[in-house]
Amino acid sequence: MPKRKLERFAENKTFPHFFQPHYDELLEGFPFRGKWNSMFFKNDFPIVLELGCGKGEFTVGLAQRFPEKNYIGMDVKGARMWRGAKTSHQSELKNVAFVRSKIQGINFLFDTEEVDEFWITFPDPHPNKPRTKKRLTSPDFLDRYRKIAKPGAVVHLKTDNAMLFDYTLDVIREQNLPLLFHTFDVDKNPGTELVLEIRTFYEEMFRNKGVPIKYLKFTLQ
Ligand SMILES: C[S@@+](CC[C@H](N)C(=O)[O-])C[C@H]1O[C@@H](n2cnc3c(N)ncnc32)[C@H](O)[C@@H]1O
Repeated sequence: MPKRKLERFAENKTFPHFFQPHYDELLEGFPFRGKWNSMFFKNDFPIVLELGCGKGEFTVGLAQRFPEKNYIGMDVKGARMWRGAKTSHQSELKNVAFVRSKIQGINFLFDTEEVDEFWITFPDPHPNKPRTKKRLTSPDFLDRYRKIAKPGAVVHLKTDNAMLFDYTLDVIREQNLPLLFHTFDVDKNPGTELVLEIRTFYEEMFRNKGVPIKYLKFTLQ
């Protein structure tokens, strides 16, 4: 394994806001489940999850803009997450945490009605049919989110990928969920929210190729 990756893994272990629970630990009962605010953030602010946060630019960018909300970035790639963990640690941001875990295990990490909002930024599209279930906006994943969402919790999706965007619109339609907003090109919609200005590593990559950035938000009930 490259030395830099090993150094990042080692530094992740030193961050007080970086968690990578072992599977056994999740089965035994993750101590913060249902208690993120009382045990970790020590406030009553809304909890916002970013799913597949990569380097964590979005989680950190939102946390800087909205100090009255708590942000948690989730991903499996520890070396990528190190970037966001390091930046937020150096900036002494108190409303950020990172959890290295598969999103499939989300219900072991959060309890009923613990999460106020979800962001999914540039998820892997998994274009082949057998992998549809792996899409982070598939009905299976929405069921997992629903179990931990507060009533009225909003899910935001930002993506370059037209297939995944259309797929998500279909899921929303099939489940009869309220679609609050959607655009096939955020740059042509001056009305889109301020937070759309935060650009992740993957967003920059697709913008450089001239791909329009799509965005939608919906609620889970
Ligand atoms: C294309 S990258 C986008 C990263 C970041 N959101 C960005 O915009 O730069 C997708 C990320 O989702 C993560 N990911 C995909 N499926 C996941 C899963 N089931 N559990 C945890 N992370 C996942 C990958 O590890 C990867 O970092």
